[in-house]
Order: sequence, then structure tokens, then C-alpha cells
Amino acid sequence: MYSRIIGTGSYLPERVLTNQDLEKMVETSDEWIRTRTGITQRHIAREDQSASDLAMLASLNAMTAAGVTSKDIDLIIVATTTPDMVFPSTACILQDKLGVENCPAFDVQAVCSGFVYALATADMFVSSGKCRNALVVGSEIYSRILNWNDRSTCVLFGDGAGAVVLSQSDEPGILSSHLHASGHYRDVLSVPGSISGGIIRGNPYINMDGGAVFKFAVKVLEDVAHEAIAENQLQTSDIDWLIPHQANIRIIRSTAQKLGIPLDKVVITVDKHGNTSAASIPLALDIAVRDGRIHKDQLIMLEGVGGGFTWGAVLLRW
Ligand code: UT7
Repeated sequence: MYSRIIGTGSYLPERVLTNQDLEKMVETSDEWIRTRTGITQRHIAREDQSASDLAMLASLNAMTAAGVTSKDIDLIIVATTTPDMVFPSTACILQDKLGVENCPAFDVQAVCSGFVYALATADMFVSSGKCRNALVVGSEIYSRILNWNDRSTCVLFGDGAGAVVLSQSDEPGILSSHLHASGHYRDVLSVPGSISGGIIRGNPYINMDGGAVFKFAVKVLEDVAHEAIAENQLQTSDIDWLIPHQANIRIIRSTAQKLGIPLDKVVITVDKHGNTSAASIPLALDIAVRDGRIHKDQLIMLEGVGGGFTWGAVLLRW
């Protein structure tokens, strides 16, 4: 038995924050942001929206596309770095909002690799026959953990959610998944703050050594793609669509170049979404499915890298 994605969905908050808007908030320029990152705009959630709200709207779109209802869902995994609250999990809150009865529901915390981790985990449940239809979601509200006075980070991120329904199938589907982590690098990219005794202790905003993240990302995105390709005895030239985590157009270009994959086979959304962390890959996937770029039997490589460090890839046949 295999698992296959049978429907995708996404949701972006209505409010758009452009580089020109940011020029009025911090000492930056549209030119700097575009040339260093490729980003022109990002979406920002309303005050009254939480990660589970964004997840719910993306999930409903994915469930409609898949032709399933809340009665059919028997596993929910939400990848998020910006959960609604300390607990219960965003997945349990989403389960209630969708009216899904009694099924396992839990969050995965692997920062920008979160969706790849969540999809790999769901594949274990579905391909083993434990679950029939898994809802796998990446949902983030990074605007809540950005220091809006820190120009080195606040221009990079955005809010959004993407979701897929992963179902049992006689044909593949997911071919293989490859997950890695190295906690040795945990201080390079972090939100180190915590709540203790009702007080926030430490910095509750993103803290990042951008250059170190950049170098690491380019290296491991190349390595893990080769690992996935080799395990399946394929060539990088067999890949129809590369869907990497969307952090910086320069990281995406370098990765594609090192892999020998032309840019017209890479799905790029970072220009319009910014970095939406765990939501970036399912958002990009949904956009490429809905605009008709992705179709049956194509070979798709999803790959992510993020805080931890964590990194990984999922290779699948559409
Ligand atoms: O999902 C994973 C999360 N994070 C990432 O993937 C981030 C990976 N890293 C990157 O994307 C890039 O390293 C950045 C976009 C963060 C930075 O690009 P860079 O080319 O590595 O620039 P830099 O850090 O070397 O900074 C160059 C200059 C500095 O000024 P000085 O010291 O050369 O005078 C910064 O102060 O740019 C300055 N700078 C800015 N200037 C205008 C930093 N942020 C800004 C800004 N506007 N927003």
C-alpha cells in the first residue's frame, strides 16, 4: 500500500504588506529587500486570527479539492512554529473547528522543515494502513514573533497556511522521505524566549545569523535532494518540479543550479509570500497544482530546511 496526495489547499490572509510599506517602518529599501531576498510583499494575519484559523481555511480548500468531508479524515498533523497557545495543540483546535471526530491529532515542530516532517510522518500512518485519509497542514503567523524594529529579520517573513489530504493508494504516491536534524546549530536560528511563572524570559523574537543559515541551507538542500534521488535510482534530470522551502530567491537559485535543475522547473512563491516557514512548501504546491503546472505522473521533490537545524525531502509521483 502507498500514500498519495489527493487534494491541496491554501490560505493567505487578505492584508498585504509591501516593501514600500516596510520602508516607512524600518530603515530599509525595496531595492535591498528585492536584490538580497527576491521578496516584494508578504501577507499578514489579522489580530483576531490564529494559526488554527489559517489552517482551517487551507484545510477546507484541500478537503474540497480531494472530495472528502470531515467524516473521512482520520489523522491530523499540523506543522507550526507559531501555535495558537502552549497547549492544546493547534492540531486539536483545528480538529474541533473542522468537526472531525476522534482521530489522532498532533503538532510537529521542525520550523521551516515542519511540513516535510509532517508529510513524512503521515506517510508512515497511511502507507502502513493505520489511517485512510490524513490531513497534513503547515500554518504560520510569523508576524507575531518578529521584532518589527529589527530590519535584518522583519522584512523576511510572512503569514499563511497550506494543506494536503494524503490518502491510501494502490500506486505511489510518496516514493521516499528523508529527515535530518542537528541540534548543534540550535543557536544560529531561534526564538529563545520562554514563559516561566507567567513572565516571558529571554528574547521572544526571531534571532538569526542570516549568513550562517544561508550557507547551511544551500549545502543541505543539495545534499538531501541527491540522497532522495539516489535512493530511488533516479537522476535530478527526472525531476519535473522542485518545490523548495521559500526563504530567499538566492538560496533557491543556488540550490537549483547545484542540482542542475533549470529555474523553470522550480516553483517560486517567495516573491509574493516571503518566508512562511512550515507553510511555504504546501502553499507553493497548491499554487502550482491549481495553475495547472503540476499534473499526473510528474516527479516532484519537496525539500525544506529550518531552525534546529532541521532539513529533509519528500520525493513523490503526482
Ligand atoms: O527559513 C530559514 C530562515 N532564514 C533564512 O533562510 C535566512 C537565510 N539568510 C538570508 O536570507 C540572508 O543572509 C539575508 C537576507 C538574511 C541577509 O542577506 P546577506 O546578503 O547575507 O546580507 P548581510 O547579512 O551580509 O547584510 C548586509 C548589509 C549589512 O550592513 P553592513 O554591515 O554591510 O553595513 C546589514 O546591516 O545589509 C544590512 N541590512 C539591511 N539593509 C537594508 C540587513 N538587513 C537590511 C534591511 N535593509 N532590511
